[in-house]
Amino acid sequence: RIAYVNGRYVPHAEAAVHIEDRGYQFGDGVYEVCEVRDGALIDETRHLARLARSLRELRIRRPMSDAALKVVLRETIRRNRVRDGIVYLQVTRGVARRDHYFPPESVAPALVVTARSSDRAKVEATAAAGASVITLPENRWPRVDIKSIGLLPNVLAKQQARDAGAREAWFVDADGFVTEGGSTNAWIVTAAGAIVTRPADAGILRGVTRATVFDMARELGLTIEERAFSVDEAKAAREAFITAATTIVTSVIAIDGAPVGDGAPGPVARELRRRFHDFAE
Ligand code: PDD
Repeated sequence: RIAYVNGRYVPHAEAAVHIEDRGYQFGDGVYEVCEVRDGALIDETRHLARLARSLRELRIRRPMSDAALKVVLRETIRRNRVRDGIVYLQVTRGVARRDHYFPPESVAPALVVTARSSDRAKVEATAAAGASVITLPENRWPRVDIKSIGLLPNVLAKQQARDAGAREAWFVDADGFVTEGGSTNAWIVTAAGAIVTRPADAGILRGVTRATVFDMARELGLTIEERAFSVDEAKAAREAFITAATTIVTSVIAIDGAPVGDGAPGPVARELRRRFHDFAE
């Protein structure tokens, strides 16, 4: 495997960043994960737009133009012979003597890109089985709209989910409403067949997959309610599902051990997953 590290393509096993990288010391950086399918980057434009926004919000200089970034992403995919899989991109504020204040203007941001293959049949089998989720109190900072590499609450929540035999953890705000998962956005389907997801400007990451599923649902003529839903409403819903570049649309079959619907992936989520790549760009 090959990784891109600050202008060079290096063997993955030897790829390294400096110990004074601010990503390493402060979690001072942002990232993107983009799906690769049949060699193509799915929703690349939306991922690059979100990256630009995350960088702007944190006042980190962009490492290069979008056109140049696209070349690096493609080259990393090509050198790793990825047909189906993901590409990971990380930008940190760069390498400087440890000091909380931003480093001088002369310090360049650090860019790392990796790519890895996945087995499409295995991915589909996992999705077809559905995912269980647990719920946990929201304990993240208010700026989860920034795709920061500082993911400690997410790491702890997801491990707690795994320890409980579940795949994902849903964070729940102080009012009892689900915000999102540790690495996915959260959705339900009501008894009336409407699909419900929390507004993108309220305590969640503005998921790229979320945006594309939203557009797709609208084109398919589904009723969409962009509002928060409670854990109780989710447990009583006809269906629930999660979205992310890594999971696309995956049914939630249980919440805190209680089955959703009949405890098997439902038709709405299955249909959205089946059609996703016809809609994504
Ligand atoms: N996670 N919410 C959170 C907290 C996420 O970390 C992610 C993505 C999403 C879904 O966003 P998108 O549809 O743009 O992938 C929602 C990536 C996949 C990760 O951390 O691996």
